[in-house]
Amino acid sequence: MSDPRLADLSRRLPDLRLLTASGELEHYGRDWTRRWTPAPLAIALPSTTMDVQTIVRWANEHHVAIVPSGGRTGLSGGAVAANGELVLSLERMNQVVDFNAVDRTLTVQSGMILQHVQETARGHGLHYPVDFAARGSCSIGGNIATNAGGIRVIRYGNTREWIAGLTVITGSGELLELNRGLVKNSSGYDFRQLMIGSEGTLGIVVEATLKLTDPPPPSQVMLLALPDMEALMQVFALFQSRLALQAFEFFTDHALDHVLAHGAQRAIEGEYPYHVVTEFDAVDERMQDAALAAFEHALEQGWVSDGVIANSESQAAALWRLREGITESLAPRRPYKNDVSVRVSAVPAFLQEMQALLAREYPQAEVVWFGHIGDGNLHINVLRPDGLAEDAFIAQCEHVTRLLAETLQRHGGSISAEHGIGLVKRAYLGSTRSAAEIALMQGVRKVFDPLGVLNPGKLFEQG
Ligand code: MLT
Ligand code: ZN
Repeated sequence: MSDPRLADLSRRLPDLRLLTASGELEHYGRDWTRRWTPAPLAIALPSTTMDVQTIVRWANEHHVAIVPSGGRTGLSGGAVAANGELVLSLERMNQVVDFNAVDRTLTVQSGMILQHVQETARGHGLHYPVDFAARGSCSIGGNIATNAGGIRVIRYGNTREWIAGLTVITGSGELLELNRGLVKNSSGYDFRQLMIGSEGTLGIVVEATLKLTDPPPPSQVMLLALPDMEALMQVFALFQSRLALQAFEFFTDHALDHVLAHGAQRAIEGEYPYHVVTEFDAVDERMQDAALAAFEHALEQGWVSDGVIANSESQAAALWRLREGITESLAPRRPYKNDVSVRVSAVPAFLQEMQALLAREYPQAEVVWFGHIGDGNLHINVLRPDGLAEDAFIAQCEHVTRLLAETLQRHGGSISAEHGIGLVKRAYLGSTRSAAEIALMQGVRKVFDPLGVLNPGKLFEQG
């Protein structure tokens, strides 16, 4: 190690895996945003909590910034290392620590991949319900850092609801055991909840105790084609009142075109501007009949143009692929992503303004939107038109994002529903959080990380 700081780290932790080859720096220095050029100092892959603590203490002594890193599937630049930081990858800390059948909790190291968490829960006859398309590569630590949501929030809520305890190394190197799996704990500030969604700026989560629940009841998956957004909101209200929804996800014709071009199978013939994939409990014939009746009612009202119900698991998976494949199908185009939310009741009014804004401000660019309409969460993906330089494109998108942020502010919404603030949204944090809140957030950050070694530059523009 020619860098004396790294040489000192290796002296303190002789068995620590430290990577410095250029390909490795590039691989671990970026997330799915692909906007910044990775330039970390090195990659550390600790295998124990004590290693993480030693690394954080070393970083404080040498004033080295640390970027905590999981599966790097983030979409806001929260895990980007572009300024000589040490990437602390939790990839090797991916083991089950404990399963408790009485408490119905699973304690895992934070580098465990979400899908592995879900499979482990299933192996115990239980269910970890937070779910989304990146399940095969995102880590539970990253899910916690962004309070990840996904496709089942309508039934189960966000990651926040499923965390019974956390073990964390703070920015100053303290080891904290937060909440320790307790169901009831009314003993002051709940730092566990503070850590969730803090994007690695307060502490590094090394272990998480996850709540598990009963496996979901038998369900059916339906794909709907719809004429417009008003109809979509009507169908949502109808289905929500008549069925027990597990998911209600929408996407536009543009999104569908990209997924089909990426290898997915068309399930409904004909061109329609909007589609919904919905999943609902279908325990018995009565529930299945109720779903059919709701569909027929929507058809009669003209809210739905066509639809299909999956009659096998593989067909259900094929319908889900139409929704879940969107991100991957757009990835080669490196879309500019907005991830906004308003209260569900505010969706129709917000949508009207937002659609007009996008049509006016992006006359040339293809705008692909989709998302979790049942949670009031819309993903707006803007594709760079051919011939427009990257810098000019980003500048245009940032201008529109400022207008979008103003619109959101008027509708009481959020500039980041589930992807986090990271680098991408930090200029707009003030549209969702008041100046007083941001000052308090920065004060909290100083308490947990006085020297600012954890993920500096993320979440806040200054401080
Ligand atoms: C999704 O809903 O598919 C994810 O949030 C990813 C994305 O927005 O691209
Ligand atoms: Zn999403």
